[in-house]
Amino acid sequence: MKRGHEETSSSSSPPHSKPRLSSHNGEDHGVEDDSTKSLARKVADHYSSRSNQTLEEREASPIIHMKKLNNWIKSVLIQLYTHRDDVVLDLACGKGGDLIKWDKARIGYYVGVDIADGSIEDCRTRYNGETDQIHRRKRFSFPARLICADCYEVPLDKALQDDAPFDICSCQFALHYSWSTEERARQALENVSSLLRPGGTFIGTMPDANVIVKKLREAEGLTFGNSVYWISFDEEYTKKKFKSSRPFGIQYKFHLEDAVDCPEWLVPFHIFKELAKEYGLELVFKKNSHEFVNEYIKKPEFAELMRRLGALGDGSGDGRTLSEDEWEAAYLYLVFVMRKSGQGDSLKKNTQRRSLSQIRQEDVMYLPCQP
Ligand SMILES: C[S@@+](CC[C@H](N)C(=O)[O-])C[C@H]1O[C@@H](n2cnc3c(N)ncnc32)[C@H](O)[C@@H]1O
Repeated sequence: MKRGHEETSSSSSPPHSKPRLSSHNGEDHGVEDDSTKSLARKVADHYSSRSNQTLEEREASPIIHMKKLNNWIKSVLIQLYTHRDDVVLDLACGKGGDLIKWDKARIGYYVGVDIADGSIEDCRTRYNGETDQIHRRKRFSFPARLICADCYEVPLDKALQDDAPFDICSCQFALHYSWSTEERARQALENVSSLLRPGGTFIGTMPDANVIVKKLREAEGLTFGNSVYWISFDEEYTKKKFKSSRPFGIQYKFHLEDAVDCPEWLVPFHIFKELAKEYGLELVFKKNSHEFVNEYIKKPEFAELMRRLGALGDGSGDGRTLSEDEWEAAYLYLVFVMRKSGQGDSLKKNTQRRSLSQIRQEDVMYLPCQP
């Protein structure tokens, strides 16, 4: 589903104060320039133009079971790491598809940030309970605030100074959009680190670069996939080799039926882990989605949740279940958890926040990119 969207201009890079990881031998990979900005805009426009689906459209999706599986993964992560009254920062929150999950975890406060104004508007109406039939519900039990910003370019600390510190930062299926340049990858981590309390948790899901590179090397050409997705690399990667001195800006085109169709960037996980450490974020674990599912499905409460969500079918015996191709597409993703260093008091909450029960259009804050 598409809707009209007005193009807006974008932004420039944040200053980088830390020593760089990528080497510069006159090559322009991973360096912020106009094309980086226009690609960020392209990603934003892609997501902005996708309107909410009706229940019928959603159920007819060729990846409905994969969507449900991804919702299960995010629900499990949220249930594992969230405590009652937690203050949550949802980076790249999209249309607010996780609001119900946060509500079930009984959080105390929520801030959602996304670059796509159309998605922020959908998130706002969903929060207000004015939205589609799938997510129509009464009130959310937590106050919330929404911000439209490029959270891989704009420092968020000032805008969120009255909301911070956060107990949890979540970035679901979106961190790889920061990996176009080192500056953007660093700004993403700087935002997470500066806003989390010591001892706070960073949870996320993103493409598994190891799986993507393995599949690329197994493929005959530079494109591979199945009936629900394809990934295509440019001619410059004909040798299928990636220099460790240039870990940013490794772009590919990703198409997932009824969901994604835009440029993405590989995130070599060992580099991500090292970079995160510079920002005081220690890896707790990283698991491929398959490993995560196989591990947590063994726990009765999560098996029951899987049954309720219907990711593996509704048990009616109609043969509709997660297809082989959807399961293979799920393998493209990983799950990670990081902990901000230091000891924090999870019970000492910031009580200064506003308590909105409805978010009006004029309550949404728009943060411009730096000129
Ligand atoms: C696959 S969607 C995931 C949305 C949501 N996290 C979820 O799991 O349902 C990716 C999201 O990342 C957002 N995004 C991409 N680049 C971004 C950026 N630079 N700053 C903020 N959000 C961004 C997109 O607008 C989109 O909403």
